[in-house]
Amino acid sequence: MNLAEHTKTLDGIFSRNRILPVISIRRAEDVLPLADALAAGGITTLEITLRTSLGLAAIARLRQERPELCIGVGTVLEGRQFQLALDAGAQFVVSPGCTEELLLLGLDSPVPLLPGVATASEIMMGYRLGYRRFKLFPAEVCGGASALKSFSGPFHDTRFCPTGGVTQANLGGYLSLANVMAVGGTWMAPQALIEAGDWEAITRLSRDSAASA
Ligand code: 3PG
Repeated sequence: MNLAEHTKTLDGIFSRNRILPVISIRRAEDVLPLADALAAGGITTLEITLRTSLGLAAIARLRQERPELCIGVGTVLEGRQFQLALDAGAQFVVSPGCTEELLLLGLDSPVPLLPGVATASEIMMGYRLGYRRFKLFPAEVCGGASALKSFSGPFHDTRFCPTGGVTQANLGGYLSLANVMAVGGTWMAPQALIEAGDWEAITRLSRDSAASA
């Protein structure tokens, strides 16, 4: 698959769901109820991070037991993790930044890579290889909506998923920008609610977010 096809795949995924929860699994028993709580609120595309040792197993389990959801992997920092995530069944790959290793792996990958960028130079590194969709991270710190407006000049055919510091309050500002395809973050599934097993609260927050998208 070439990068133009990957771009199309990402656009397809995020045209259905413009909210991308960034999830770190700390207890195996949380995986299904958490995914179900998000889905009940209208969020059916998930990024499961590799920040905990349970991430890969969570991806495999969701692919097996919730095939109707779209499951990506996040916090992929190196090539070894990229391959493990593909083996687990990840349908897209997200990295917080971009390294040459990851960008090159993304070229030959069967599923799209959404590389993280924070500067024009990083966008250009990906751009010359054919990447047109990026995660902007950490979005609020690296200029937020103003940075995205500025990027729309030189990178007119490029779209972003800002992540990092997105909240229910600033969500609408991001989603109203033409070069924002989706927004990511943890605000709809905060760790404290996951730990408390408060699935209803997560469904409520998800519903509010999905309604703004
Ligand atoms: C990420 O990894 O993308 C961020 O940790 C999510 O950021 P948030 O917790 O500020 O939403």
